[in-house]
Order: sequence, then structure tokens, then C-alpha cells
Amino acid sequence: MQPIPTALIAPLFNPATFAVRGAVDELLTTVRREYPLAVAEVPGYDPHWIVSRHADIQEVSRHNDLFRSAERSATLIPQAGEALVRAYTGGDPNLFRSLVQLDNPEHKEYRRVLFQALASQSVTRWETGIRRIARAQLAKLDAAEGAIDWAKEISAPYPLQVVLDAIGVPIEDHPKILRLTQWLFSWADPDLCRPGTDPANPAQQPQTWKIVFDELDDYFSSVLAERRAHPRDDLVSLIANAEVMGAPLEHVRAISYCAILATAGHDSTAHTTASAMWELAENPALFAALKADPSRLPAFVEEGIRWAMPVKHFVRSASTDTTLAGQAIRPGDLLYLSYPSGNRDESEFDAPFQFRLDRTRNRHVGFGYGGHVCLGQHLARLEMRILWEELLPRLTAVEMAGSGRLICSEFVSGPKSVPVRYRLN
Ligand code: HEM
Repeated sequence: MQPIPTALIAPLFNPATFAVRGAVDELLTTVRREYPLAVAEVPGYDPHWIVSRHADIQEVSRHNDLFRSAERSATLIPQAGEALVRAYTGGDPNLFRSLVQLDNPEHKEYRRVLFQALASQSVTRWETGIRRIARAQLAKLDAAEGAIDWAKEISAPYPLQVVLDAIGVPIEDHPKILRLTQWLFSWADPDLCRPGTDPANPAQQPQTWKIVFDELDDYFSSVLAERRAHPRDDLVSLIANAEVMGAPLEHVRAISYCAILATAGHDSTAHTTASAMWELAENPALFAALKADPSRLPAFVEEGIRWAMPVKHFVRSASTDTTLAGQAIRPGDLLYLSYPSGNRDESEFDAPFQFRLDRTRNRHVGFGYGGHVCLGQHLARLEMRILWEELLPRLTAVEMAGSGRLICSEFVSGPKSVPVRYRLN
């Protein structure tokens, strides 16, 4: 197959495209139809296969031995950016070494450290605490008297508090973690980026990521040391005191473990809840259906994840000669997994551009798939269900009170503003 025309695909590599509602969907619909598995040659980047179909995303994700995460950057980065990362790390293509940047056998061992603690039957132990946080956050709706920016005031702070409590970060440090998360994932967004950022400079993203890594390293190094001395009932104590292959976790990997929980552990949940509210406010039939039958709430949460797809991609590199959907893949080839595309794939989902509560089989790839599938998925589902359970019985009307706004980011992003007008009973 021919490479994808650069004019068509280059916007996918540009954070600004993700801030324009519908732009990425339109681009990816064309890619799925005309270039379902083809190479993008975008100036400044190594060539990437764009994996746009649901089935191919699952196929790549299922074979972690063939399609690896550690040998090249696990996320999209320009060549100049990758060179800078290698200079920072002494040759490693990834600044962070969290689970998403590990391969087996290491990956399995590190994943085991928190697997039990985040399993579906375990996360329910946090339910009472989460419900308390949800009620406290939703009390802002009473105080705001009918109009609020849902994204800023509720969907961002709520999962932040949930996950940081579970990790064991004290409340006075939550604003610092939120700021670092925004710098990391929204490095190119004019409202959320680190002050002084120039998104046009390809060195900017790794420079920002390095600053964030160093701050998180400082912060979590002392928390880990403290928990080694005085373990508590929290996730950071498990990381601090675990053994992997007969030894404590290696330093960069332990810091990165804390970092992924403390950043991805709330940002993607926040974007999902913000997108779901945006849809509710614009779709009165959906709101009425949910009000009429609260037993559809789990379906609403699940469809909300398919709908929001806050994680826009991960990148894998091929370890050997293989074929994918009939195409020859060479060792070292890079594959860009487009979760937004997989979640709108017409061959997997009926009416993919409709938010539906009646999907009988919702096999979305919003949480990824295979060996790296989201470790926090059960916590994410639980906290989203609790928030809506607390809100919906009281919410009698909701509509947009202005234009929603999306974050400018090619990796993890969603709405930064969802102004709504509402009535409560
Ligand atoms: C709606 C919310 C969330 C979404 C959409 C989401 C999405 C994702 C995606 C797409 C991946 C990559 C999977 C792959 O490569 O196949 C991932 C991995 C991961 N997520 Fe989430 N996530 C969410 C919430 C959370 C939460 C709440 C936590 C922490 C408690 C978390 C922790 C992780 C971790 C540790 C990984 C790495 C797993 C691995 O590589 O083995 N996520 N997530």
C-alpha cells in the first residue's frame, strides 16, 4: 500500500488538531477507509505505520513479544525530541520507565506489584471513601446555583483526589501533582502548559517531560523512603516494599510507577467524565433515557469511555519480521495505535458516531487491550459509576451554557472546559 499522503496524516501528529472538535474523527475516518494500515511519513518524525482498525489494534496489542514497548519511545516523539531524550538518559529512548515502557519478562513482574490491589474485587474497598469525595465535589453544584464549568470544577478535581488518596499523597500536595500532570500531558496547550513553553519547538516536549520527571523524582523519592520505614495501607507503600525478580524495584522504574498512577490515574478519568457530561448536556434523549432507567448507568459509563477515548495513542516497535493484515512489517518498524480510530471503527461498532446505551457488545479499546491493558480500569469504572449515581437522581435538567473547549494534546487529552446550566431537585 502507498504511504498515507502527508497532507492528510500530518495533522494527527500535531497537538493543535486535537483541540478542534471533530477534526481527528474526520481525518481518521478517511484513513480507515482509504489507508487502513499504511505508513505515515511526516517530516521530522521516523515513519510510523498508522494502525487504525479495531481488529489490527487488538492484534498488535495481543502480541507484546512481536510488538514491543521498551526499545523505542512508547509515545509519538519527533526525531529531534528522541535524540534529546537519549542525551538526557544516556541512550534510553524513554525518560519514564513505567509499565507502558516495559517489555516482558520485566513487564509482567512489575505489573504484578499492583495487580491484586487494583483488581475489580479489591477496588470496592475504597467505595465508601470515593462516595464521600463524590458528594463533597458535587456539593459545589449546590453552591454554584445553576451554572458551573463541569470540567474544571468537578471532573478534574474528583478523580485527582480519588487516586491520590489511594496512592497515599496528602491533600496539600494535590495541586502540585495536578500542575505537573497538566505540564506533562498538555505540554502544548496554551492554558495548561508549563509557562514559557513554545509548542513549535520540537525540543519542548522532552524538555518539559524532563522537568516533570525530575520534580516527580524528588517528590516520590522521599515518599518511597518514608514508606519503606513506615509502611501504610496505600499503593505507594506496596511499590516501596515490593520485590521484583528477588530485588527491590529499580529506582527509575519505581518513580515512574508512582508517576503513571499520579498522572494517568486521574487525567484520563477526568476527560471521560467531562466528555460524558458534554454529551448529556447536548443530547436530551440520552439524558431522558438515563433518568428513566438508572440501571443503564454501567452502560453509560462504558459507552462514555468509548466516546471520550482520552488516550489518543501508544507506539510499539516490531521486534522481528512479521505480517499484519497482510502487510510485511520489518524489525524496528514503528506502529502508532490509534485508539480513537479503533473506537469509531464502522466494522466493529454500529453507528460509531452515536452515543448508545443499548450496545450489546461494547468491546472498545479505550483502555487499550492485551498485556498492557489499563491497570486502573476497575478503579476508573467504579469512581465514574459512583459520581453519576450520586448526581443523576438529583439532576433534573442540564444543557450547555457556552462552548466547550478541548485540550491541545496529541497524547492524553479531552475537554478543558464544559460550561453547563443545570437544575437540581
Ligand atoms: C477512563 C480512565 C482511563 C483510561 C481511558 C485509561 C486508558 C489507558 C490506556 C489506553 C492504557 C494503555 C493500554 C495498552 O497499551 O494496551 C492504559 C494503561 C495504564 N493505565 Fe489507564 N486509563 C484510565 C484510568 C486509569 C487509572 C484510574 C489508573 C490508575 C489507578 C490507570 C493506570 C494505568 C496503568 C498503570 C497503565 C499501564 C498498564 C501496562 O502497561 O501494563 N489508568 N490506560
